[in-house]
Amino acid sequence: MSSSSNKPILVVAGVGNGHGTGASTAREFTKAGYRVALIARNAESLSALADEINNANGDAQAFPVTAYDHSTLHATFAAIRAHWPGAPLRVAVWNAGDAVWKPFLDITPEDVQKVSDTNVVGSFAFAREAILAFQDLELDEVGKRGALIFTSATAALRGNKTTSAFAAGKFALRALSQSLAKEFGPKNIHVSTAIIDGGILTDRSKARLGDKFDAYVKNEDVRLSPDSIAKSYLYLANQDRSAWTWELDLRPAHETW
Ligand SMILES: NC(=O)c1ccc[n+]([C@@H]2O[C@H](COP(=O)([O-])OP(=O)(O)OC[C@H]3O[C@@H](n4cnc5c(N)ncnc54)[C@H](OP(=O)(O)O)[C@@H]3O)[C@@H](O)[C@H]2O)c1
Repeated sequence: MSSSSNKPILVVAGVGNGHGTGASTAREFTKAGYRVALIARNAESLSALADEINNANGDAQAFPVTAYDHSTLHATFAAIRAHWPGAPLRVAVWNAGDAVWKPFLDITPEDVQKVSDTNVVGSFAFAREAILAFQDLELDEVGKRGALIFTSATAALRGNKTTSAFAAGKFALRALSQSLAKEFGPKNIHVSTAIIDGGILTDRSKARLGDKFDAYVKNEDVRLSPDSIAKSYLYLANQDRSAWTWELDLRPAHETW
């Protein structure tokens, strides 16, 4: 893809514990020749994923954070620049999520704070740092300065019985991404959002599904694979300016929406 001095950087925030979309995105972009900057609140899993990628001849660095706030993310992006001086940061993925699934009257002030921190405060801070990093870059081979991708969910489009907090957060994230796409498209910065319209197979699916988990694993048509989502993120990053996506919805073939 590029000579080693200008190999691009992917930054992904909300890497999780190594079994979901964040980790698959890091692995997929590594295969495509990117350096990968990994941001998450769980330092231990983050370091294990960085080791896994580096042991497979990739170039990953863990940047653990205690919170997704403005000053932390500002310092983290400065640390990424210092780690790979001069390398272009080309792709930024905001994958962080905190699912709150509760009837409205059970929702606590802490739940509201959590979804606000992830979907408003953190996403705004991350987007700002990504756009500042992209804006002075030369156009890349597909004619853009950078690509900012948000992981979203069905809850960004409609609320439901137990999703008042989760949906409020994902609606806000969608509004941010749509506004940024309009504002920064003319500056050749590609902003997109992926509506994940179904369950993603992660190690946490087991707790949610109980004895239905084994059938869920076996039946590829009822759940999304994080590796397949990651391939779509690489596709978004590679789209040229004549036909680029703002919103992409992804669902398994047999999803009964
Ligand atoms: N899983 C689903 O079925 C599903 C469906 C639709 C949309 N989504 C969206 O997809 C994104 C997450 O992707 P993913 O589900 O494939 O998982 P993932 O990439 O592993 O990311 C998990 C996210 O949840 C956070 N998290 C909180 N508690 C956690 C725990 N005990 N173990 C691991 N992670 C924990 C992580 O925190 P850190 O910030 O520390 O990484 C990270 O932000 C979110 O934006 C979510 O809203 C998920």
